[in-house]
Amino acid sequence: MTKNESKVAVITGAASGIGRATVITMLDQGFQVAAMDVDTAGLDALSNSLQSNKERCDTYMVDVASKEQCHSTISQIFEKNGRIDVLANIAGIARSEHMTEVSETSWNQMVGVNLSGVFWCSQAAIPFLIESSGSLINIASCSGLMGQAYTVAYSATKGGVIAMTKSLAMEYIKTGIRINAVAPGSVQTQLIDNYSIPEDVNMDLVKPYMGFRGMAEAEEISNVISFLASYDARRIHGAVITVDGGLTAG
Ligand SMILES: NC(=O)c1ccc[n+]([C@@H]2O[C@H](COP(=O)([O-])OP(=O)(O)OC[C@H]3O[C@@H](n4cnc5c(N)ncnc54)[C@H](O)[C@@H]3O)[C@@H](O)[C@H]2O)c1
Repeated sequence: MTKNESKVAVITGAASGIGRATVITMLDQGFQVAAMDVDTAGLDALSNSLQSNKERCDTYMVDVASKEQCHSTISQIFEKNGRIDVLANIAGIARSEHMTEVSETSWNQMVGVNLSGVFWCSQAAIPFLIESSGSLINIASCSGLMGQAYTVAYSATKGGVIAMTKSLAMEYIKTGIRINAVAPGSVQTQLIDNYSIPEDVNMDLVKPYMGFRGMAEAEEISNVISFLASYDARRIHGAVITVDGGLTAG
C-alpha cells in the first residue's frame, strides 16, 4: 500500500496539457483521481490511454464556469469516495487580443473559466479539504505577476487567481488545509498550439515574455503540483511558486 492509496485528488482541466499530466503524475503517486473537464472526447482519450491505473481514475464532464456543475460534481466525488485530499484547479483558457477589441463574450468567458471556475470549485471542495487537512493548488501564470501586452483579460484573471489564493490562505490559516498557487511560464500544450497573436501587434512588446529558457513540458509543472500536494510541502501555505525558467526573475 502506497502512502496515498486511500487519498483522492480532484483535477480540473484534466483532458489536456498540464491537467492531463497532473492526472498521470497523481495516479503514479497512488492517488484515486477525479478528472474534470468540459471536453468529453479528451476525457475519454485520457481514460483509454491509462493502463493499470485506469480503475483509479473517474472522469466527470463539467463546465467549471458553472457554480451548479462545480458544486454538484464535487459533492458527487465526495459521496463516491468519502473524502477529498487534493483539489488542483487547472482548467483555463487563453487568448491574445488588443485591449480595445476584447468583446463582452470573450471577457465573460475568460473570467468564467479562469477565475469563477477556480472560485466555485474551491468553494465546493474546501469543507472536504478542511476535513482531510488537504491541499488546494491553483494554477495561475507568470501573466498574473508581470505586465504582458495583448493579454490583458487573461492576465487579469491570473492576477485574480493569485489574490484569491493568498486571501484563501489567510481565511483558512487556522485549519490544516494548505492553499498555494503555481505560476508557470510558457508550457508546451494545446493552449500554446492554439494561441495566436494578432498580426499587427508590436513584437517589441511581446518579446519580453518569451523568456530565455524555452518552453516547459507539462510534466515539469505537474511535478511541482504533486510536490505541493505532498507531505514534504507541509510548511508551504499561501505561496505562489513560479515555474517559468526565470521569466519573472528580472
Ligand atoms: N500552457 C502555458 O503556457 C501556460 C502558462 C501559464 C499558465 N497556464 C495555465 O495552465 C492551465 C492549463 O493550461 P494548459 O496549457 O494545460 O492548456 P490546455 O488547453 O492544454 O488544457 C486546458 C484544459 O482546460 C479545459 N477547459 C477549458 N475550459 C473549461 C471549462 N469551462 N470547464 C472545464 N474545463 C475546461 C480544456 O478542455 C482543456 O482540457 C490553465 O489555467 C492555463 O492558464 C498555461
